Amino acid sequence: MHNVIVTGGSRGLGLCIARRLSAEGYRAIVIARQMSDQLAGTMAHAEQFRPGSLHFVPFDLCDLQNIPNLVKTLHNTAGPIYGLVNNAAMGLDGALAMMPNAQIERLILLNTISPIVLTKYVVRHMMADGGGRVVNVASILGFTGYSGLSVYGATKASMIGFTRSLAREVGTLGINVNAIAPGFMDTDMTQSLESEHREKVARRSALGRFAEVEDVAGAIEFLLGPKSKNITGTVLTVDAGATA
Ligand SMILES: NC(=O)c1ccc[n+]([C@@H]2O[C@H](COP(=O)([O-])OP(=O)(O)OC[C@H]3O[C@@H](n4cnc5c(N)ncnc54)[C@H](OP(=O)(O)O)[C@@H]3O)[C@@H](O)[C@H]2O)c1
Repeated sequence: MHNVIVTGGSRGLGLCIARRLSAEGYRAIVIARQMSDQLAGTMAHAEQFRPGSLHFVPFDLCDLQNIPNLVKTLHNTAGPIYGLVNNAAMGLDGALAMMPNAQIERLILLNTISPIVLTKYVVRHMMADGGGRVVNVASILGFTGYSGLSVYGATKASMIGFTRSLAREVGTLGINVNAIAPGFMDTDMTQSLESEHREKVARRSALGRFAEVEDVAGAIEFLLGPKSKNITGTVLTVDAGATA
């Protein structure tokens, strides 16, 4: 079984990715701070039908100091790491002029610095083990913008820049690096958006609806699988045509 680390796999998109990977024959290693009821249920189901295909490792990804140790332990216990899905992020909103600096720092720490540092240590193993796949979860906000989400948007745009350069850096070592840019999806992160606003966002998309976490998880599975072996350094948009 290929090991794939899925950060933020306890809820929302990450949980859907982990569930899908476990069903498709991978061993998904979920990282989040806390176990959720949904993840516990998914793990119990996976254990019944595909034993060993879903693992949970509690870890706070803002704890940069311990990332090297986390990766070392994962590699020692699970074996070679085939894939890394940098999905964990927070979506704090607010007008930049009013946003406390501590909040700006926290957003950039979790959404940008942490995935870059985690990727650094995982990629070192991938180089030694003969290759791998990295998928960075960005957002269409990284190229469109949305009032009140300037810092979040900056972090998501940074994932795209990171993807393009790293793909060039590690391509000859057999490592593919891609980004995925989802549009609005109904998860905990977007619960605060009022229904009127949601309807407006959905109406404006080419397909008149939202993309769902399953659609994005499917695209990520494609970027991890054999059919995308010659795809690297790209950004795959899954937004029901919101940016079409
Ligand atoms: N929802 C959308 O509309 C949308 C659109 C475009 C892109 N995205 C992107 O999609 C990804 C997933 O979003 P989502 O909507 O599924 O988010 P979500 O429902 O808020 O889930 C976030 C996940 O990240 C984990 N997490 C948060 N802080 C963490 C930390 N410090 N250390 C470890 N894990 C942490 C959470 O678990 P714990 O709290 O237990 O740690 C949870 O599993 C993000 O990268 C987001 O930017 C989302």
